[in-house]
Amino acid sequence: MTTKRRVGVLVSGRGSNLQALIDAAEAPEYPAELVLVISNVPDVQGLARAKAAGIPASTINHKSFGSREAFEDALHDALSEAKVELLCNAGFMRLLTEGFVSRWLNRHLNIHPSLLPAFKGLDTHARVLESGAQITGCTVHFVRAAMDDGPIVAQAAVPVLSDDTEESLAARVLTAEHRLYPHALRLVASGLVTVDRERVEGMPGGLGERALFSPPLPDKS
Ligand code: GRF
Repeated sequence: MTTKRRVGVLVSGRGSNLQALIDAAEAPEYPAELVLVISNVPDVQGLARAKAAGIPASTINHKSFGSREAFEDALHDALSEAKVELLCNAGFMRLLTEGFVSRWLNRHLNIHPSLLPAFKGLDTHARVLESGAQITGCTVHFVRAAMDDGPIVAQAAVPVLSDDTEESLAARVLTAEHRLYPHALRLVASGLVTVDRERVEGMPGGLGERALFSPPLPDKS
């Protein structure tokens, strides 16, 4: 069996996407292992999930540092110490500066609950509902310094229903996120994608199921 890529995960809260990665990485053939979880917020559920799975977990509280750069240096040192090769943001709620982003370029993923480049930023589902869009979804992309920006690795489409609330839509998208993130990390950790001119390209024979998880249409429409 080939060596698994060493993955670090950054969280700020609930950690349900972290849990999806933990569960996926339990499969013997999964190409990545989670070796470190870091939260910038103390005592969050994400840390408890990591500990329950036996993954080293620690808090690096951004409030304890005098500058963004000092916080990011501490993050980088912890990740380097654990020999992390790939980094996943999973509900990590801090913007990272160009300095940190460039050190992890094309080795650093984020998940966002919309079909990027639409609906970047916060309050995504409320804005989707307000817009009248009938399809939304989620995106895993390589991180760039601009918020929710960067080459797209994988996307899943999710229908918006006429009686949706912010909560019901968020829950439907979250279910798709939990399928998408392990899939996208598998592609990256297996070396099945590459970044060329800020676009993700598949290696020969590689991308396969990168396609959307399109919602099924009714028989008669
Ligand atoms: C997810 O919706 C993710 O897309 C967004 O923040 C949320 C985090 O949820 N970036 P969780 O902490 O993974 O449960």
